[in-house]
Amino acid sequence: MSSTHNPKKAPILETLQACTQRCHAPFYTPGHKHGRGMPQELTAWLGLPVFQADLPELPELDNLFSPQSVIQEAQELAAETFGADRTWFLVNGSTSGIVAAILATCSSGDKIILPRTVHRSVISGLILSGAMPIFINPEYDPVWDLAWGMGPEAVEGALNEHPDAKAVMVVYPTYQGVCSDIEAIARVCRDRDVLLLADEAHGPHFTFHRDLPMAALAAGADVSVQSIHKVLGALTQASMVHVKGDRLDPDRLSASLQLLTSSSPSYLLLASLDAARRQMALDGEALMEETLRLGRSAQAQIAAIPGLRVLDGPSAPTSGFTARDRTRIVVNVSELGLSGYEADELLDEKFGVVCELPLPKTVTFIVSLGNTQTDIDRLVAGLEGLARQFRREGACGGDRPPLAFPELSPKPLCLSPRDAFFAPVETIRAIDAVNRISAELVCPYPPGIPILMPGEAICAAAIDYLHAVKTRGALLTGCSDPSFQTVQVVQE
Ligand SMILES: Cc1ncc(COP(=O)(O)O)c(C=O)c1O
Repeated sequence: MSSTHNPKKAPILETLQACTQRCHAPFYTPGHKHGRGMPQELTAWLGLPVFQADLPELPELDNLFSPQSVIQEAQELAAETFGADRTWFLVNGSTSGIVAAILATCSSGDKIILPRTVHRSVISGLILSGAMPIFINPEYDPVWDLAWGMGPEAVEGALNEHPDAKAVMVVYPTYQGVCSDIEAIARVCRDRDVLLLADEAHGPHFTFHRDLPMAALAAGADVSVQSIHKVLGALTQASMVHVKGDRLDPDRLSASLQLLTSSSPSYLLLASLDAARRQMALDGEALMEETLRLGRSAQAQIAAIPGLRVLDGPSAPTSGFTARDRTRIVVNVSELGLSGYEADELLDEKFGVVCELPLPKTVTFIVSLGNTQTDIDRLVAGLEGLARQFRREGACGGDRPPLAFPELSPKPLCLSPRDAFFAPVETIRAIDAVNRISAELVCPYPPGIPILMPGEAICAAAIDYLHAVKTRGALLTGCSDPSFQTVQVVQE
């Protein structure tokens, strides 16, 4: 798309600001009417301007699903900034963009090829669309207890076996910033005329610095869904979906988004997307330069702490790991005899450091444009303190059996996730559920990777893993029984 707009403009933000200055008697939603009816404790705490800007789709503010003025212009600016042909703003996170991308590509019964380690929103997309997943098990690294991305040869193999597949979805990057060879995957998809959808929730910053991995659209993806809120300067839930090329029907994507989105989108979220886009268009490279500097400095200092290891590359070569985002710091604490959950708790309680993602062996820290040198110093000091204490206490190596991510089923599903979701179910004891077909989507959160999913036969390793991570402090989401003593399965 050729540049037609002034990147210094932020049309939604500027118009919203102007609207808050206009004196009038409001007889429209929201009920608090410019903050005047808000509970006083909220306005005292957050300030009146936030609520004055909480406006509905007034004529000058355009309409999210029929954009003709400021939203249209802001979305076009975003498309130019992120290297897309067309961009949609999302007020319900990348979750809604991922579900919509699946609905826009797959009808009921259509096949989609994807890694088993997808985010739970993908399973929602499968349930709503009726698409049949063809899962690829990404390579698992036992040293790190992490799954990497999908290799292009695995995608090619799956497409050979399922030439009728409609789409391939990649998680690019993973939560740990690991990137698979998306250029090669894109070539394979183009050769077969199959759409490539990228869950780029963790990668919206990639466009802005040469030392970051290549952005999914630049590498040849047709669609990219990005959580602007996760790493850039937008409010929580503010995301974007971008499309490049003409292989995906934009009207169907638009219609799918409308199925999933509130008819009262928050202008605070939309304005934050607009402002975050402008910030990155004007200063993105410098902001990422500094973020990368902080990330590299943290990585080097933590790597020098005895008892800790920092993820740099895979422990054995794999095509599921071709690049890494240096703004993600992944620390393996297992040599201290601690789980990632315990390390996370101790870091928070004793050192005032809070990570993004604890897992059985690792803790992952997101360094982003909001971090400072002081944060990094605190992180390094916290990890030094932790290592000193637990090495000195002789806990090194630990006496607890290692907790490995279960080998999740690469087998075809017994039922489509949709059929399992709507099937008659029964509730049974979790320990009796092995080989039964799950009716539930159960995942520790974060990272939100389902361990049980509707339609999949339940394996013993998955039950053991869920009990073990729960004992070690993970929050299980999606289970009808939060204690996970029972589970819902499809009636036989
Ligand atoms: C890989 C991945 N994809 C998608 C999502 C959903 O993103 P959002 O929270 O913006 O809905 C997440 C959220 O954690 C994620 O980790």
